[in-house]
Amino acid sequence: MSNSIGMVILAAGKGTRMKTENPKALAQCAGKPLLDYVIDAAFTFAKNSSLRAEVGVVVGHRKELLEKWWENHNQKSLIKTAWQKEQKGTADALKACFTDIPDFWNNDFTLVACADTPLISADEFKELFSVLIQDPELVGVAATFETLNPTGYGRILRGTKGFRIIEEKDADESQRKITEVNSAFYILKTSHIKSILGTIENKNKSGEFYLTDLFQENFAVKPVKFKSETPFLGVNTLEQLANVDKIIRSNKLKDLMINGVRFLNPEQVYLDFHVEIGTGTIIYPGCTLIGQTKIGSSVVIESNCFIKNSYIADEVEILASSYIEGADIKSGATIGPMARLRPGSDIGEKVKIGNFVEVKKSKLERGAKVSHLSYIGDAEIGENTNIGCGFITCNYDGANKHKTKIGSNTFIGSDCQAVAPIEIGNDAFVAAGSTITKNIPDGGFGIARPQQVTKEGAARKFLKTKKT
Ligand code: UD1
Ligand code: MG
Repeated sequence: MSNSIGMVILAAGKGTRMKTENPKALAQCAGKPLLDYVIDAAFTFAKNSSLRAEVGVVVGHRKELLEKWWENHNQKSLIKTAWQKEQKGTADALKACFTDIPDFWNNDFTLVACADTPLISADEFKELFSVLIQDPELVGVAATFETLNPTGYGRILRGTKGFRIIEEKDADESQRKITEVNSAFYILKTSHIKSILGTIENKNKSGEFYLTDLFQENFAVKPVKFKSETPFLGVNTLEQLANVDKIIRSNKLKDLMINGVRFLNPEQVYLDFHVEIGTGTIIYPGCTLIGQTKIGSSVVIESNCFIKNSYIADEVEILASSYIEGADIKSGATIGPMARLRPGSDIGEKVKIGNFVEVKKSKLERGAKVSHLSYIGDAEIGENTNIGCGFITCNYDGANKHKTKIGSNTFIGSDCQAVAPIEIGNDAFVAAGSTITKNIPDGGFGIARPQQVTKEGAARKFLKTKKT
């Protein structure tokens, strides 16, 4: 039978140095919570090993938010949560995990990771684990690295057998000069934790129970020094969050460019971790692409577009300064410049949405055109229908929203309103300047505007006469 590992992620801390009320573990980094990066790395490590694995997340500060996160997690069945009632330190957090999830005592190994280190990958876990299992005598390993600026980190004091970690607050001047620091990623034999965890005291400057006390000079424990500090960069402040967010996004941009996506100026594009973009797509500077957004191949997105949670098929053109959220845009459509697509916009193949057009919760079938200055809300518009400039679906009566249905191959002249609920059929024609309040059947012609009166020669009366 294969060995088992409990992977414990400490996420109970408030993150005081972040100066924000929400738990640090849920802070969004390139559109994904910090905690999810660590969980994904842990699961990838376990999947590529022969270990049976489960994840335990220790929650505390604003636990209701973390529980909500867990409820909606796509790996919920593989994740358990434990509750650290008071944040009394990292050793106390691990204790809370074993109290609430006693099954974790049965695992051969326990991996401990902090939720605030999103650049970690399965590679670091793999390397750490390989050192632990090479020597059967060893009871624990900790990942360390050299840094030019060790401020804030626990320092590594190597002994003849094991090593210990001294926190910055407790270190004397010479210890503070040590540049090998603790990353706070550990893998231990669970039996070692069982024999030591209960004995850890809080006799230090913080009055906290330190997990680092699992490592002592006379224990069979080993520091594993990694070459690069980058995977272990922690987030304790908003400045550090911005720094790791930038690294994640620039790695993502690099991957996309390798796969044939052209960014005219990559430094001026902000995009989330989840965003997918197909080959041959060109993105101009100043665009923001966030949330669950998927962009196809050979798409052009001009400058200053904001796109959130939207699906954009191949060969779509999005012209400058368009704002798109929750939209589904089919291939060959053209949007903008300066268009706004709100949630529920279902834009068919080769549809044209022009400048200053707003669309909300509406379906436009293949080849329909709304080229200028219009509002389309709660509407269905059929194939190849042409909507002239300045059309408004009057969908809201102050209390309820109503639907507008317009068939295929219909022509709506400029400056019209359709007062919903209303239906205009296929092959119909609405004259410019009409306010349509009654349904128009297939092939019907609708006109709803006052008759024009023309008085010959009367203009003179209204024109100002030029004084000489
Ligand atoms: C910790 C390490 C330090 C290491 C550094 C690396 C300890 C005592 N110190 O310091 O040696 O160099 O990480 O980044 O472990 N947490 C709880 N409950 C608590 C306290 C903290 O769950 O009572 C969680 C936090 O949510 C966080 C993690 O533990 O995810 C680490 O806490 P943090 O305050 O960031 O520790 P550091 O000061 O960074
Ligand atoms: Mg930290």
